Amino acid sequence: MELYVDTANLDEIKKAADLGVLDGVTTNPSLIAKEGIDYGERLAEICEVVSGPVSAEVIATDYQGMMAEAATRIGIAENIVIKLPCTADGVRACKSLADQGVRTNMTLCFQPLQAWMVAKAGAFLVSPFIGRIDDIGQDGMDLIHQIRQAYDAHGYQTKLLAASIRHPKHMLDCLLAGADVATVPYKVIEGLLKHPLTDIGLEKFLADYAKAFS
Ligand code: E4P
Repeated sequence: MELYVDTANLDEIKKAADLGVLDGVTTNPSLIAKEGIDYGERLAEICEVVSGPVSAEVIATDYQGMMAEAATRIGIAENIVIKLPCTADGVRACKSLADQGVRTNMTLCFQPLQAWMVAKAGAFLVSPFIGRIDDIGQDGMDLIHQIRQAYDAHGYQTKLLAASIRHPKHMLDCLLAGADVATVPYKVIEGLLKHPLTDIGLEKFLADYAKAFS
């Protein structure tokens, strides 16, 4: 499973990239708003740090506007992926961009038929939002399983990118469910290597060594 970091914060992206196992970055308008920086400027900075796919989400909600924004964003760097919502205009833009060889990430996916439609439109990535489904009292992982099953049954090549991941348990579930990619906040990435027995074990190894040789 590939690992993307879900942030527009450059320090977090650099720290994640330093781990040596980062495959890409996802951003969205809320994350950019939090940084208070021009979207295009930040995308250019991110693409200098990460060579894997960097998702740039459109602000427009209509087909023409989406296509115009996509044209601007793809000029930033070769690894820019255009992020579009799973709406009728989004699917139409996805198909047009796919026909031009532009990679897309279809976001705000909350049910398997959206994932099917965007796969038919040639999406590079589909982003089902696990955490936001959990937030309304349903199980976001059900959606991951359904999309995996549908894509495998019909041989769709669109990558299943698990999004809206809130904690390490989501990550483990996605890994076992066969998600192709998981995009996670940097804070969750930090949690992926934590275990109290690792800390206790390390402390004991060092103490034993120091006792014998110091
Ligand atoms: C994915 O591309 C989205 O940016 C993100 O995962 C949304 O996560 P949230 O539901 O925690 O805002």
